[in-house]
Amino acid sequence: MAAAGVLVAMGTGTAVADGGGGGDPQPGAPGIGDPYYPLDGNGGYDVDHYDLDLRYDPATDVLAGTATVSAHATQDLSSFDLDLQGLEVRSVEVDGQEAVWSRQGQELVITPHRPLREDQEFTVGVTYDGVPQTQEDALGISGFIHTDDGAVVAGEPHGAATWFPANDHPRDAASVDVRVAVPEGLEGVSNGVLCGSWTHHGWTTWAWSADEPMAPYLVTLAVGEFDLRAYEAEGLAFWDAVDPDLATFDADPETEGPLVGEVVDHALGRQAEIIGFLEEHFGPYPFSAAGGIVDDTPDLQFALETQTRPIYAPFFFVDPVFAEVVVTHEYAHQWYGDSVRLDLWRDIWLNEGFATYAEWLWLEHEGLSTPQQEFDFLATLSDEELGPDFWQVTIGDPGPAVDQLFHPAVYQRGAMTLHALRTEVGDDAFFTILRGWAESNAGETVTTEEFVAFAEEVSGRELDELFTAWLYTAGRPAGLPEQAPAPAPAP
Ligand code: TRP
Ligand code: ZN
Repeated sequence: MAAAGVLVAMGTGTAVADGGGGGDPQPGAPGIGDPYYPLDGNGGYDVDHYDLDLRYDPATDVLAGTATVSAHATQDLSSFDLDLQGLEVRSVEVDGQEAVWSRQGQELVITPHRPLREDQEFTVGVTYDGVPQTQEDALGISGFIHTDDGAVVAGEPHGAATWFPANDHPRDAASVDVRVAVPEGLEGVSNGVLCGSWTHHGWTTWAWSADEPMAPYLVTLAVGEFDLRAYEAEGLAFWDAVDPDLATFDADPETEGPLVGEVVDHALGRQAEIIGFLEEHFGPYPFSAAGGIVDDTPDLQFALETQTRPIYAPFFFVDPVFAEVVVTHEYAHQWYGDSVRLDLWRDIWLNEGFATYAEWLWLEHEGLSTPQQEFDFLATLSDEELGPDFWQVTIGDPGPAVDQLFHPAVYQRGAMTLHALRTEVGDDAFFTILRGWAESNAGETVTTEEFVAFAEEVSGRELDELFTAWLYTAGRPAGLPEQAPAPAPAP
């Protein structure tokens, strides 16, 4: 402490204007400190609430409005950044006073009229508009995605900045209100609860409120024609949004299968049951609303655990079992990923390994397999079947490229790691660990080191070796069943 004070004092000779701190206010860092994405998130403040007051016109693809970001400073700040990609900023205010701002790549740099003191609460208003630019990378597209009749947002790992100014890193969670005006006849859907909708001069505003803090990448928006279904089940408020085009969508005309819309209805119809099943293993559902969003767009290539309301690519709904497994996966993330969230993207297996293990538990519940069978199945697959790098990826630190971050090994070997833990500590300790991890870290960020320490504490065992072998060592851990020989080439 003293040393830092001395350095600051030596570095500058100017007195602090407000006399309040231990040195001159400094600019907040342009990144929150995640080595995978050095410019994601920002330093010097914490966001408490985002209020997004937006309008989206599918005819022009233009998004316009004002984001009001309520935050508090964690240091004396002369300036600070928000993350924003593309879009046109029209004005920025801090506490109602016009602020100086500039754009530097994904950084919106804001210099308030007067410096902010540590712990000071402040409000930033950013008025902006433009056609949001979709992110494109090795795994397809993410962030703000334009569709035939509107848009959908799937922002992991850092797509929030494609549609609102944000501290775009999971370390900083905040509550979110979204009001979106769309042409009358269309729906606008987001997280949390629907507070109301009203129509003026041909535009309908949909007002959503999510009180439970969430990471920016978990905020979603779906605009278009949706069959919006509000209901209550098992004491929980649901809003499902299903694109009516799916009712007649036959994903596989060659075979006699159900239409996508039928599978969607069936799978979403089991949501309350799936949540109840997960509660038995993980403890109480951490949020006060639920539901699912399925849009008829070929561009969204994955599902995302958007808080309280996961969003799904339509191709998941070609087979009823596959569909329910994906719905289980996204709900499991509400405990592991959303409520308990990452401090660093490096630890992504804490999200994906847990959600994949939930799939195995669901398959067992449905009488289709057991976690042991899933584990053995993967252990005995040949390298040809698994892909050459399945056992090479360091799943405890896979790397920032999305095809590494979301590599199948992170999902499957992540779940295998949990099963290896279960085998080591026994069922009682294992499920106490899963439930206790969710309960004791609800609303907090976590790391793998903390998980290992927690598992050791609950089980009373030394687990370093197990986790080192499973998370940080390339190659198959010792003691696995033999890999089956590669299948003979077809004659
Ligand atoms: N987290 C998502 C899931 O539940 C997957 C995901 C998010 C993803 N963003 C992605 C996959 C980008 C590929 C590319 O599984
Ligand atoms: Zn997942």
